[in-house]
Amino acid sequence: MATTDWEASWKAGKIGFHSKALNPMLEKHASKILDGQKNCKVFVPLCGKSVDMKWFADQGHNAVGVEVVEMAITSFYEEQGIDYTKESVPKLPGATVYKSKDGKITLYNADIFSMTSDIIGKFDCIWDRASLVALNKTDRERYAPTLTSLMGPNCRYLLSVLDYDPSKAKGPPHNVPNSEVATLYESSCKIEKIDTSLYHPSKFAKDVECVQTLFLMKPK
Ligand SMILES: C[S@@+](CC[C@H](N)C(=O)[O-])C[C@H]1O[C@@H](n2cnc3c(N)ncnc32)[C@H](O)[C@@H]1O
Repeated sequence: MATTDWEASWKAGKIGFHSKALNPMLEKHASKILDGQKNCKVFVPLCGKSVDMKWFADQGHNAVGVEVVEMAITSFYEEQGIDYTKESVPKLPGATVYKSKDGKITLYNADIFSMTSDIIGKFDCIWDRASLVALNKTDRERYAPTLTSLMGPNCRYLLSVLDYDPSKAKGPPHNVPNSEVATLYESSCKIEKIDTSLYHPSKFAKDVECVQTLFLMKPK
């Protein structure tokens, strides 16, 4: 999907991927990335209006998201009742950054592929849900290095992907086989498969068995 298609989906309210509740896989495994530490800087790529970001902030961490559709960002702050400021990003012409007044949540309205560590720094943790599966398959090869370039030396990266028989349904979400996660990330990360569950999305692939897999990755 092109950026304009994502904008159209948000405008039409076609956001079946969004959940009002904390992601259950995150709830179960957050300790593996937070690692008992305080004030972690947590990256949430392609963040939408995920309530997981508020959860990280409520736990005392700093959440940083990147989202190409502005409406998703303003909806996040409005629905969560969080006051925010809006500024341009000097190092990235055309981008805008929305910051919660308490400084715990920072959301960039920008294309993920324009993000570098010069602009947003490096991260202690990454929570990556419904991103790799959302992108066009041809963009995966540049997505993985974009993300790994933002990992700090001790970064813990939780990646959630979906896999299903692609002849039975048309994404997004697109299927990401486990072998592809290895191909994309193994040159720069140690990869551990830590959980799988059956995924029952509301409107997607009703009768197709869809498996959700969670990987924990650390820099090599
Ligand atoms: C499937 S949604 C997942 C949202 C969020 N991670 C969640 O769990 O609810 C994918 C999001 O990525 C955004 N998006 C798509 N392409 C993007 C890009 N190139 N850069 C930044 N955001 C993008 C879409 O607007 C959409 O909100």
